[in-house]
This record gives sequence, C-alpha cells and structure tokens, in this order.
Amino acid sequence: MHYRPLGRTGMQVSLLGLGTVKLGRDRDLRYPRAFRIPDEADAARLLDCAAELGINVLDTAPAYGRSEERLGHLLRGRRERWLICTKVGEHFDADGSRWDFTPGHVRESVHASLERLQTDRLDIVLIHSDGRDREILERYGTLDALQAMKREGLVRAVGISHKSVDGAEAAIAAGCDVIMATLNPAQPEEAEVIARAGAAGCGVLIKKALASGHSGPASLRFAAAHAGVSCIVVGTIDPAHLRENAAILARSAAAG
Ligand SMILES: NC(=O)c1ccc[n+]([C@@H]2O[C@H](COP(=O)([O-])OP(=O)(O)OC[C@H]3O[C@@H](n4cnc5c(N)ncnc54)[C@H](OP(=O)(O)O)[C@@H]3O)[C@@H](O)[C@H]2O)c1
Repeated sequence: MHYRPLGRTGMQVSLLGLGTVKLGRDRDLRYPRAFRIPDEADAARLLDCAAELGINVLDTAPAYGRSEERLGHLLRGRRERWLICTKVGEHFDADGSRWDFTPGHVRESVHASLERLQTDRLDIVLIHSDGRDREILERYGTLDALQAMKREGLVRAVGISHKSVDGAEAAIAAGCDVIMATLNPAQPEEAEVIARAGAAGCGVLIKKALASGHSGPASLRFAAAHAGVSCIVVGTIDPAHLRENAAILARSAAAG
C-alpha cells in the first residue's frame, strides 16, 4: 500500500480508504444495486482484508445508520491501527435524514460518536454538508465548535465533506485541515480546487471515485493521478472488490 501525508495533520494515510455506508445503512442511497448489510462475520472479514492490504482509513458517519456502532464493536482491541473519519451535522433514522449544524449539536454529536466508536479520540471529523457549504462554514459556528474540540484533544483534524467547488474554496480559506471532495471521470469539476487545497496544506479525501458504483474500478486511476489527493475512500462490502481496488491503486502509485 502506498501512503501519503494528510495535508499538515501529521497523519500518513493509505492511498485507498474504506467507506462504510453499506455496513450500516441500506435505504435512501444512490447505489445502482440493492444489497444486504453484511452480518458480523462478513463485516469482520472485510476489516481483516482491509488491514491485510495496509488500509488505515475508515470513513463513517452518524448518517450511515449503524456503521459507527458496528465499527466500535468490530475494532475493539485493535482501534490503534486505524484512522477513523466521522462526521457531524446529518443524522439518519427511520424518518430519514435530519440536519443540525449548531455548535451545541456538534458537541453532542462528537461525544455520541466517541461512545458508539468506543474510543477516546476521533482522528478526523468533517461537517456533513447538506449543500449549503459556504453558509455553514461562515455563519453557523460549526467549524469553531470542532476546532474547540480539537484543542480539547477529542479530535485530531477537522474539516468538511462539501458538495461544491465554492464550498471547497470556503473550506481552504477557513483553514480546514481536511476536505472530502468528489472526483471521478464524469465529475471532474473539483480537480483544480483539490490541487489548490493540497498546495495549501489541506488534506484531501476523495468520495464517489467510482461514481457510487455507476463507473468501473478503472476510474480509480483518474482520482489517483490528480495533484492534492491524499486518500481515495471507496465504499465496498466485497473483499474481492477491495483487493481489486488496492491492486489498481498500487499500479497507479508505482507508475508515479
Ligand atoms: N460525506 C458525504 O457526503 C459522502 C457522500 C458519499 C460518500 N461518502 C463516503 O465516500 C465513500 C465512497 O462513496 P460511495 O460509496 O458513494 O461511492 P464509490 O466509492 O464511488 O462507490 C461505491 C460502490 O462501488 C462498488 N464498488 C466498489 N469497488 C468496486 C469494484 N472493484 N468493482 C465493482 N464495483 C465496486 C460498491 O459495491 P460493492 O459493495 O459491491 O463493492 C459500491 O456500491 C462512502 O462509502 C462514504 O464513506 C461520503
């Protein structure tokens, strides 16, 4: 596995990360096919496979149903080898998604994530934007609340999973440590701002590199070739796909 610095955070992240939406939630998603949430044994095998491949980034969120709670259980006794990225601002339950970006809610959400993940520190916490990226960053105090929790030692790095080029620009200007950006051959719009983020010392996680499964694994080469990219977080519950993705990125990294 190839590793890259996550901006100025001091963390070294594997070029391939594991997205865990499908470990905890199976409705209101944009994947091309229905799927069954893996049982405990299959989920444990998936994490073993990720560890064996050298993956060290796990991406989760309160909005991913039971994902955090399941990771907390699955990582018991081996938490330290992973970098956990979770989010604040969106919650998902039987009634669907709800959003709250107020500082009070941020604090409650981080504490609830720490408890579900059975840990005393989160490596990365991102604002789970609903699309109003700049407004949230500039007016809600959400980022200030996360930065305060960073100073308290509960969180190591903070930022936003944004939805627009303008949002990424606002995040760089606001001094985010990390952004989570979309990049795939059908959605190349963020390529330039990703390079600017990297040059400014902001770590960049990529989401939807396979267009949520609507494009083939070769699309990973596209994301890996762009300047500024730290880690490509691919969502999968299939160890064979995980191995295939790791092999594609190993060849990309070797080719420079
Ligand atoms: N913060 C946000 O707003 C946000 C939004 C979206 C995503 N994310 C994060 O980013 C991660 C990635 O995004 P994503 O899951 O939407 O999209 P993605 O990684 O582009 O695609 C995931 C889909 O591709 C399939 N897949 C993976 N590897 C494959 C392979 N080698 N061959 C064929 N199919 C393959 C997976 O199915 P299988 O399970 O069958 O492999 C899954 O359905 C998420 O898991 C999540 O952690 C964050």
